[in-house]
Amino acid sequence: MTGIRGTGKPVRVGVVGFGYWGPNLVRNLDRLDDADLVVVCDMSEANLAKFKAVYPDVPVTKDLGVMLADFALDAIVVATSAPSHHGIAKRVIEAGLHCYVEKPLTLESAHAEELVRLADEKGVVLQVGHLMEYHTAVNWIRDHIAAGELGDVLYLYAQRLNLGKVRTEENAFWSLAPHDVSIVLYLLGEAPDYVSATGAAYINEGVQDTVFANLHFPSGKVANIHVSWLDPHKVRKFTIVGTRKMLVFDDMEATEKIWIYDRGVGAPGQAMAFGEDLTLRFGEIVAPYMKMSEPLSMEVQHFLDCCATGATPRSDGRDGLRVVRVLEAVDESMAAGGAPVNTVVGV
Ligand SMILES: NC(=O)c1ccc[n+]([C@@H]2O[C@H](COP(=O)([O-])OP(=O)(O)OC[C@H]3O[C@@H](n4cnc5c(N)ncnc54)[C@H](O)[C@@H]3O)[C@@H](O)[C@H]2O)c1
Repeated sequence: MTGIRGTGKPVRVGVVGFGYWGPNLVRNLDRLDDADLVVVCDMSEANLAKFKAVYPDVPVTKDLGVMLADFALDAIVVATSAPSHHGIAKRVIEAGLHCYVEKPLTLESAHAEELVRLADEKGVVLQVGHLMEYHTAVNWIRDHIAAGELGDVLYLYAQRLNLGKVRTEENAFWSLAPHDVSIVLYLLGEAPDYVSATGAAYINEGVQDTVFANLHFPSGKVANIHVSWLDPHKVRKFTIVGTRKMLVFDDMEATEKIWIYDRGVGAPGQAMAFGEDLTLRFGEIVAPYMKMSEPLSMEVQHFLDCCATGATPRSDGRDGLRVVRVLEAVDESMAAGGAPVNTVVGV
């Protein structure tokens, strides 16, 4: 279906925030037929000038109020820095407009919950920029798991490591892990019931440079997420261990991102008596071919489709809330010396 609410007309979209990431969203909105990029808002003159240099015909404003009042918009995309997400998204949703918010949805789960309830009340679409849920490889893995190819998933772990970029306003988990948390929840299709985490701050007091977070799920599955900006390796890798096979997703690889290992313990379905020698299976290793699409383009198109149909986005406000709750609970657990912290959300 194209066009807003079946009218055949493109979705009239405004973008708030034209800093580092906003230009990527603008580029996609500009080239997709289902969007009409109507106005861009940024409080920085310099960034508005950069926008004007590329899109001279699209109006700009420094005032969100003007954007909301004067342009008969259907939807607003929020790509400002995270502390401003809650306040801006709240005004957008209260104005009855569909809203896309970059990750993380908010900095507090109570604020995310408020936005979810408000969007429900107003009947508008709330989508969060969990980009990796639109990544071809991630969706291939999700389908592969659903088809039972790995057997039952037992556990998984994610590593996102590098040297730099060191931040002072947020710790390494808030900076690096939102995508990993969203991938883990998306792949497992469930939300964790509690987390426990350990981290350490070496460079700036109170700002963890490295974090090891354990997520526990109601099904009994466990996931570990290790992030660091103080590490000799550049790694962005997922390892998933199933009862039949094991899968590695290496996002640093240009083409062969997924490797499937036919490895495990014992033959499938074989019951082993206590004390009997374990049979280890070392089968073939396969790297499946897949044609990659730009995740951001898929994500933006998905938002436009949801605006047109009223469908609930894949990465909706509730997904955003669950991710924020995990990020928040990891901080709470680190502050409590690694104690388990409940992550069940209220909506
Ligand atoms: N999906 C991804 O992979 C990805 C990658 C990078 C950044 N991001 C997200 O995108 C968002 C923006 O990050 P960034 O790196 O572009 O930040 P940035 O600081 O470079 O840009 C933010 C822009 O928003 C403007 N702004 C801030 N508050 C405003 C307000 N109240 N009204 C109008 N303009 C305002 C600033 O002037 C600036 O131009 C963040 O939520 C970040 O997490 C997502």
